[in-house]
Amino acid sequence: MSVQPDRVPVTVPQIAEMKRQGERIVMVTAYDYPSAQIVDEAGVDIVLVGDTAAMVVLGYDATTPVGMEEMLMMAGAVRRGLERPLLIGDMPFGSYEGSNEQAIENAQRFVKQAGCSAVKLERGGPSVDRARAIVRSGIPVMGHVGLTPQTASALGGFKAQGRTAEAAAKLTEEALALQAVGCFAIVFEAIPSAVTEALMPKLEIPVIGIGAGPATDGQVLVLHDLLGVYAGHKPKFVKRFADVRGESLRGVRAYTEEVRAGRFPTEEEHTYSIPPEELEEFARYLEEEALVGTDTPWDW
Ligand code: KIV
Repeated sequence: MSVQPDRVPVTVPQIAEMKRQGERIVMVTAYDYPSAQIVDEAGVDIVLVGDTAAMVVLGYDATTPVGMEEMLMMAGAVRRGLERPLLIGDMPFGSYEGSNEQAIENAQRFVKQAGCSAVKLERGGPSVDRARAIVRSGIPVMGHVGLTPQTASALGGFKAQGRTAEAAAKLTEEALALQAVGCFAIVFEAIPSAVTEALMPKLEIPVIGIGAGPATDGQVLVLHDLLGVYAGHKPKFVKRFADVRGESLRGVRAYTEEVRAGRFPTEEEHTYSIPPEELEEFARYLEEEALVGTDTPWDW
């Protein structure tokens, strides 16, 4: 099979090269086959099957309830819809904290069962060891510091991080530790842009920001936030680029109205035909055969 040059799959080394060349990296989440096709066609570089699925797809009020099986199902669907972007599986809460062995096993499931090229995990601290173990097992890892939703309750809720010198220093240590153990990139979430700017010269790996200002090497947004699908809380850092919820609502309301008014389906546009002679024969059958008895063949 020949692959068009602009369709060649993005690789981890290419992401590093983009940083070296000063090319901005575009990352977005996706959770199913049709949205994977859309984000691929739109030209993004990285697709994350994020555990935000718990909130924007599954309707929970936090990311913690989603499990490996659900994540693998969504990642597999996204894989089938993607050609070019690098695919990353987000390790859900409870899938890597227990031990390095657990972390490696679940990272391998993202690669083997869902066709991901890399995984992402949250936090510094104990996660640094997990990241090192997964990298050593041969799977690229993306780190994630700042607001880490899996541990939001310990951080005092869904709020910006690194807003004191001490907190910014802690965040710096976490980011540098993740870089030191071989993470190929790192997400900065909900961090003052001045802190990001001050930190950028220390990071050799690509930094992808979400609510971390414009100084990062790339940006990531949750697809349902940027498209305006999700009706829940909209963080300050989200920009809505479309109103898919509004458009969907208009579509389903129009359908509801037309069905109730008998305007859909129409005989001319939405129905199948049958040759007249076949229809006549069928009418004869109904008269002669079908209406004779009460002994229906399915009445066992
Ligand atoms: O789960 C997710 O969608 C994420 C992004 C917000 C980076 O972690």
